[in-house]
This record gives sequence, C-alpha cells and structure tokens, in this order.
Amino acid sequence: MRPRLSVIGTGYLGATHAACMAELGFDVVGVDTDRAKIDALSAGRVPFFEPGLEELLRKNLDSGRLRFSTSYDDLADCDVHFVCVGTPQVADGNAADLTYVDAAFDALLPRLRTQALVVGKSTVPVGTAERLVERLRAEVPADRDVELAWNPEFLREGWAIQDTLHPDRLVFGVGSERAETVLRDVYAPLVDPAAPGGGVPVVVTDLATAQLVKVAANAFLATKISFINAMAEVCEVVHGDVEKLSAALSYDDRIGGRFLHAGLGFGGGCLPKDIRAFMARADELGVEQALSFLREVDAINQRRRARMVDLARESVAGDFAGRRVAVLGAAFKPNSDDIRDSPALDVATRIADDGATVTVYDPAAVPNARRDYPDLGYADSALEAAGDADVVLHLTEWREFREMDPAALGAVVRQRNVVDGRNALDPAVWRAAGWHYRALGRP
Ligand SMILES: NC(=O)c1ccc[n+]([C@@H]2O[C@H](COP(=O)([O-])OP(=O)(O)OC[C@H]3O[C@@H](n4cnc5c(N)ncnc54)[C@H](O)[C@@H]3O)[C@@H](O)[C@H]2O)c1
Repeated sequence: MRPRLSVIGTGYLGATHAACMAELGFDVVGVDTDRAKIDALSAGRVPFFEPGLEELLRKNLDSGRLRFSTSYDDLADCDVHFVCVGTPQVADGNAADLTYVDAAFDALLPRLRTQALVVGKSTVPVGTAERLVERLRAEVPADRDVELAWNPEFLREGWAIQDTLHPDRLVFGVGSERAETVLRDVYAPLVDPAAPGGGVPVVVTDLATAQLVKVAANAFLATKISFINAMAEVCEVVHGDVEKLSAALSYDDRIGGRFLHAGLGFGGGCLPKDIRAFMARADELGVEQALSFLREVDAINQRRRARMVDLARESVAGDFAGRRVAVLGAAFKPNSDDIRDSPALDVATRIADDGATVTVYDPAAVPNARRDYPDLGYADSALEAAGDADVVLHLTEWREFREMDPAALGAVVRQRNVVDGRNALDPAVWRAAGWHYRALGRP
C-alpha cells in the first residue's frame, strides 16, 4: 500500500510540496498553524503567487487526495511526515530561529504511529537533525520504531512546481536502509529511469551532509552573485562595463554564465538568512575561518543597495527632497510576490527616508508590500508609478519591465532619468528614446 503523507507547514515550500505529492498520486494532508492559510488552501486558493500552483491545488483537492487542516490530529494516520516550517533569521543575531521546527516536533512526536518516517525539508543549521534524532529517542516509545531523515529542498520560487516534480537531484540524508527505501518509494515516479520524466539522480548521505548540501548550495550561489557584483564595483571606478566582462567570462565553461549577472544582488527568504545562519553555525563549531568569506559576500550584497541609492540621488542632482521616485519592482525576484529581504523595498525605503516621494509598482507583490511598508506610495501600473517622476528605478527584473516602451513611459515622467538596478533594459533603446540611462557596473 502506498504510504500516506503529511506536510507540516504549508507556506511556499510546504503548499507546493503537498500539491505535488498529491499529483504523484499520494494521499496528502497539509497541516499549518495559520488558520487563514489553511482556509484559503482548503478553498483552492494559493495565498501567495506561484505560477501554476492554484490549478494543481484545485485539481488535487477535487481528486480527494489532498486536504488541509490546522489540527495535528489529522496527520496521526500518516506514514511519512515532511517538515516544511519556516526557519527565519533570529531577531537579535545571524543564527536561524528553530522555534517553529521545535514546535512542529512538539506537536508531531506524540502522534507518530509505528514505523513512521519524519523527513526534514526545512533549511536548518547542521546539527539540528542530530538533535532532533535525540528528541525522537527520548520522547517516542522505542517500540514505535520511528526514524528521522533529511531531504533538503532546492526549489526556486516562480519555478516551484517544475523544480519539485523535475528536480536536478534529490538528496536523502538517512540513518538506515529502511529510511532510504521509504524515500525511494515516495519519490519513485521521479527516480525510476523507466518512468516518464524519471531518472532524477539521488545522492544518499548521512544526516550532517544532507543538511550541509542545502546551505553549501546557497553559499555558492550567493558567492557567485557577489563575485560579479564585486567586479561591478571595480568597473565603476575604472569606467569598465561589467555586462561585457560577465559575457566574456561566461564563455569559459569552467565559470559559466548563470548567476553571473551583475545588479542589485540577492534577497528573499533564503539566501541572505541561510548564509548568515551558516556563518553563525560555523562560529559555534569553531570553523568560522572556513566561512569568513561569506561575511564579505554579504557585505558586497549590501553595498549594491547603497550604491543604487547613490545612483538614484545623483540622477536628481544630489538631493531627494521634493523629488518623485518611481520604483519598478517590490518582490525580491520576478515571478514571485515574496518580499522577504527584498532589495527593491530596501532601496525604496532608504530613498523615502531621505525625503523623496516614492511610488512602487510590482505585478504581484504590491499587496504584501503595502502591508509591510505602509509608508511607501503604491500604483497599479508602471505608467501610473512613473507619473511626474524625476527618476525611474528598475529594481526587480519582471518581463513586463524589460519589455516596457521607453517612449510611453517618457511621456508621463517629469524627467527622463532611469537607473537600471538589474542590467536588464537595453541602454541603446532607452537612450534613443531620450532617457538618461544609468546602471550598476556600467558607464
Ligand atoms: N521558499 C523557498 O523558495 C524555499 C526553498 C527551499 C527551502 N526553503 C526552506 O523551507 C522552509 C520553509 O520556507 P517557506 O518559504 O515555505 O516559509 P513560509 O514562511 O512561507 O512557510 C512556513 C509555514 O510554516 C508554518 N508554521 C510555523 N510553525 C508551524 C507549526 N508549529 N506547525 C505547522 N506549521 C507551522 C507557518 O504558518 C508558515 O505557513 C525554510 O526553512 C526555508 O529556508 C524555502
């Protein structure tokens, strides 16, 4: 018989995972402590922006395989429990806040049935799984024979379904053959080379390595982004062009062009907090020197935001007072409404604090931005945001912005100043339309 699955925590990761596992044919119950989220999901509404997820959710709710609940009692008959709760940065430091993980285990452990497998998917500091194994040993009667595995998640918001159903690889951190067999059963449709779209590589590891893979991947990606942004800093001084530099580097397939795109840098609910938590954990482990470069990676990323504010200020003759600034973008990246540690909103806030009237437009993230940044102004379109603007800032690389008509935008602004924080607009086209175009790392 196929195992019954629970997914604990139905945010970006958990809601996607629950819908995708139901799509693979499993009976799935998603449990979250947030009633509004559970009510929305139960009614077939995804409470965040993720292309294709609402259709998948509805299809699987209708099939009867997927349901959602606020009660942990509803997962007591499940065999495999995926833990997908948040692990944000603590308020007073760099470490990860594990209170949600612990609360999930508090509620889950007394309800585990015999031979259940608990599978951590949240991104956690290495050592967390080992501590949770101790909790299982101490709090669950030995004859229940329950186990913990770690199966880190690599999905990208905006591509979450594709990444869940067709991942590059699966990592199974396990302490026994039984745990590996259960995970291989669950993911069989993806792993089986004979299945359509199957053949996904599996890397089987110990628990420590599985936890590390995720933070190592994020540390590498953050480093690649900050590397090219460091080159942008140098280009700015020598009047070089970082776009041409990265294009030239990318032909070397040892380097590659992905994530080598200079701009305003990274944000979101993962990369910034994950590299900081990794550094904090390295400190605790006494290997802080091994990761000291990540401090610089983080600092380069922060300096890009400050540089963006400076370029915007230069465009309005050195003073924001009385100026109108249009900000295009609020989400931390396109195809998402996620504004956690959004570079765009960070820049917008700094500029508003310096005296400008800032109007923000984003195709998906305005409701979230309005909730968390009520002091900024908002518009329903790029044209509306740009009305009477002294400078337009392109801060999140939505396709809608890349394809904007500079002539139409030029007709509504007060001054044709644009600063391209994502190096995604064509300078020749914008300059031909009469704009004073500036960008990070380019003349
Ligand atoms: N968002 C991504 O792209 C992504 C990708 C890979 C890994 N991750 C990792 O996955 C984890 C979750 O991230 P997210 O973006 O989905 O966060 P999120 O904030 O969107 O979702 C977390 C959910 O957990 C719920 N929750 C908190 N405490 C709970 C409890 N005790 N019981 C049940 N539910 C509880 C919250 O209500 C929330 O709905 C994090 O560790 C993150 O680093 C996220």
